[in-house]
Amino acid sequence: MNANTLPDDIRLSELYPDHLNIIKKRHDLTLERGSAEHLVIFSGTELPVFLDDTYYPFRPNPHFLAWVPIPSTNCYIVYTPGHRPILIYYQEKDYWHLPPANPEGFWTRHFDIRIVNTLEEVEKHLPNDHSDTCSLIGEVSDQKYAFGIKRINQKDFLNVLHYNRSVKTSYELECMRVASRRAVDGHLAAERAFREGKSEFDIHLNYCRSVGLTENQLPYRNIIALNEHAAILHYQHQSPEKPNIVKSFLIDAGAQYNGYASDITRTYAKEQDEFSDLIARFDILQLELVEAVRSKIDFVELHMLCHYKLAVLIDEIGLAKGSPDMLLETGVTAAFCPHGLGHLLGIQVHDVGGHYSDDNGSISKPPDNHPFLRLTRGLEANQTLTIEPGIYVIDMLIDNLRGSPGYNLINHEMVDWLREYGGIRIEDNVRVLEHGCENLTRDAFHSYKKTP
Ligand code: GLY
Ligand code: MN
Ligand code: MN
Repeated sequence: MNANTLPDDIRLSELYPDHLNIIKKRHDLTLERGSAEHLVIFSGTELPVFLDDTYYPFRPNPHFLAWVPIPSTNCYIVYTPGHRPILIYYQEKDYWHLPPANPEGFWTRHFDIRIVNTLEEVEKHLPNDHSDTCSLIGEVSDQKYAFGIKRINQKDFLNVLHYNRSVKTSYELECMRVASRRAVDGHLAAERAFREGKSEFDIHLNYCRSVGLTENQLPYRNIIALNEHAAILHYQHQSPEKPNIVKSFLIDAGAQYNGYASDITRTYAKEQDEFSDLIARFDILQLELVEAVRSKIDFVELHMLCHYKLAVLIDEIGLAKGSPDMLLETGVTAAFCPHGLGHLLGIQVHDVGGHYSDDNGSISKPPDNHPFLRLTRGLEANQTLTIEPGIYVIDMLIDNLRGSPGYNLINHEMVDWLREYGGIRIEDNVRVLEHGCENLTRDAFHSYKKTP
């Protein structure tokens, strides 16, 4: 990891108390709505593989990570309004594995930390009458983790937390800036590996080494796609075979810091050619969409603006012929870009709450012809989200247009040309401001350009 990515712990320790107060207020509101006295937040446990004695990679409960930045199993936070939160910290005595170290860091002084060595000991740190007075948030794969608490993952509680979570605290924003710088470090290493002619698998290894995270610590599976693989939206393999001719490279890869994610995509051409020209044009289109981000705008409208711009581009380069309205109405733009313009980003890469219209859990559905749009909310300052337009040759979707007016608008010779490159996606992470946005991704790339 480059020194440029290193977090500033002093700054985080200054920001964390405010963060904690905001988290507490959200939980106070939750408890008021749901009439419980205490919230118990379970970090989760390792889940066993079927008929095996190994475990799936552990992903902590995001509600737990919002309180404390530790990806530890079998820990509990007990929150009672007006009281110092308790962290029941599980430190199993185990000679097969390395037990978790004692908790340390800028956040520890804000908690009453109780170390336990066995699960049974947890119960004595829970409030009296916990089965009736507590509500638990977490994945309870076995009732033993609930200690008799009856109310588990109450919908009305989760609605309040999921709705409000989209607006990030200053501490969260700082973690996300670090996560962006970390990922950009990896993106630069990956581009170098691509230019050196490495396979997808080797590019992936270079990425992980550079961000300083194991595969299991990444916020999502890296998408490392050469040539036509770039058209597979969530391409899940990293082939060790090098293609004979390499034309393009799409990388969609993130990083995390203290549990907060980045989610970044770049596309590169091997040569200076028509495809590199198209990437340059697409970069302008993406930046125009980023520029349109500000508080109070409706994200569905921004998504539709993206399709309008895609239609103009598709017509100008000759990939299809028609007015923007025609290319939109006939489903041509949706065939070339079937995913949404973006989504909320935070502890989860597709952060929850993107379809909520209030904290009661009312839902704004995406438009019928854009079902994969994950964000339908009006934007608010300090929300963090992605802006990720794409253009791909996905034969299945072009074939679906056969027999409809859209099919004949498409220039199939040009589709044959673009197919070999797969496609283009450019994805930045932005923070909404009253009048514009902060671009965490471009800022991170820019900071590397200034570093010798
Ligand atoms: N990396 C998945 C996405 O961009 O949504
Ligand atoms: Mn994304
Ligand atoms: Mn992505």
